[in-house]
Amino acid sequence: MPIIKVTEEDFKKVDLAVSRLTEYFNAGAMELRRPLTYHIKTYGCQLNESDSEKIAGYLEEMGLVETDDDKADVVFFNTCSIRENADDRLFGNLGVYKSLKKQNRKMIIAVCGCMMKVQKNIDKIKKSYPFVDLIFDPQQLHLMPILLLKSLDTRKLAVEVEDIDYIADDNRMHVARKRRFRALVPIMYGCNNFCTYCIVPFSRGRERSRDFDEIISQMKSLAKEGYKEVMLLGQNVNSYGKDLGGDKTFPDLLEACAKIEGFSRIRFMTSHPKDLSDKVIDIMARYDSIETHLHLPCQSGSDSVLKRMNRHYTREQFLRTAHLFREKIPEGSISTDIIVGFPGETEEDFEDTLSLVKECRFDSAFTFQYSKRPGTKAAEFEDQIPQEVVTERFNRLLEIQNALVFESNKNLVGKTMEVLIEGQSGTAADILTGRTKCNHLVNFTIPSELNITKTSDELEGYLGMVRITAAKPYSVEGILECLKDE
Ligand code: SAH
Ligand code: SF4
Ligand code: F3S
Repeated sequence: MPIIKVTEEDFKKVDLAVSRLTEYFNAGAMELRRPLTYHIKTYGCQLNESDSEKIAGYLEEMGLVETDDDKADVVFFNTCSIRENADDRLFGNLGVYKSLKKQNRKMIIAVCGCMMKVQKNIDKIKKSYPFVDLIFDPQQLHLMPILLLKSLDTRKLAVEVEDIDYIADDNRMHVARKRRFRALVPIMYGCNNFCTYCIVPFSRGRERSRDFDEIISQMKSLAKEGYKEVMLLGQNVNSYGKDLGGDKTFPDLLEACAKIEGFSRIRFMTSHPKDLSDKVIDIMARYDSIETHLHLPCQSGSDSVLKRMNRHYTREQFLRTAHLFREKIPEGSISTDIIVGFPGETEEDFEDTLSLVKECRFDSAFTFQYSKRPGTKAAEFEDQIPQEVVTERFNRLLEIQNALVFESNKNLVGKTMEVLIEGQSGTAADILTGRTKCNHLVNFTIPSELNITKTSDELEGYLGMVRITAAKPYSVEGILECLKDE
């Protein structure tokens, strides 16, 4: 698959499309005597969230206004294909737009994201959802305005899915960030690992690292703009730079980011255990602005399963890294991803996973039942595990892992911890929510004697010191002692 760098000339064509679309939407707004709206439904991982922020950036440049209402004038579905139920969610949600589009004839529906790299899904949309206006794949994101214009000009479904991996300067794109305090910063795109269960290398293409200086200049601007938290994103951040000749590596990038003043939380994900170097752990321990949390997906605790998954590390190597992290950053936390029921997984293999979980004492874990993804190697493997066996193993794993999460939360009770405030919690108006530096979720109250006049919205992005008073199964509770930034 060719990798093509998007040039300034290409971006000029994008700019032209943006100005034509701005005229088009302005005319629509005049006709309707209201601003036109957009709504993006984002499925999947943070990379998709980051892509949606770029789509939103373009749409806002065109004069559209975001709405929570999914009956907006322009609706984007940014899809995920990681497991079968992710696919089902798109088709479950898309159906209602047939009648909505009859009510609002100017409504525009676009479907993009990882599912749009699979021909079967494109065919299904063409056949069963003909009201969709535009389909494009994740690699074409920067071209979205050109593609949207094309679909409006032809008034027919425009499908733009190609075998090209683009690398486009993120700094050239306008990004409408969802959170006032958090910036998502992709440092690389695609994945070369081909874990045998995984669809991502097919949907996101080959690894392309962004230019080092480009990332640093973006980080400096973000710090100036007042972002407190940045999340460096990639499917395998530890292989950053390999495709750039190897002069700059992930530890170099992480350290350079940590030296920029202004951030209180630098986070990164995902770390592939085969590529995470001891140097990264050293840098994490050295710089206060880097979170003390490591997301390190193990997937399985059995060497034979890891081999068939094509993960390129052994249980022992994984344990060594986890122990090293615990030793160097004792107050830190480790989260992981685990797949249960990979083809050929025996009871013994599964017990190896349980014993790895107990030994690592993961502070949190995303646990998944294996889902067969057509086109991947594992989909062809014999010995697919019967669903009832997967369910039974999955429940056993959950029981053990949930107890570990609860225990990890209990260990915080009595401590006063720095919390980055994310705003009001979903449960009650007087409860705020935020995260510790080691990524624990904290719900807390503000005692009236602190005389804090700011609303929960205004406190978004502030750092506070919170005394942890109780542990819940998935979060901790606390009381604010003081705000740090005042
Ligand atoms: N790049 C990351 C993971 C991205 S996908 C990494 O290498 O760790 C997020 C998680 O989804 C994976 O870690 C894996 O646990 C899970 N996953 C991916 N494909 C899956 C499949 N076919 N069935 C079940 N879980 C899957
Ligand atoms: Fe998928 Fe493996 Fe790449 Fe992660 S490293 S995205 S699990 S192929
Ligand atoms: Fe899903 Fe694509 Fe992310 S498949 S998990 S949205 S890279």
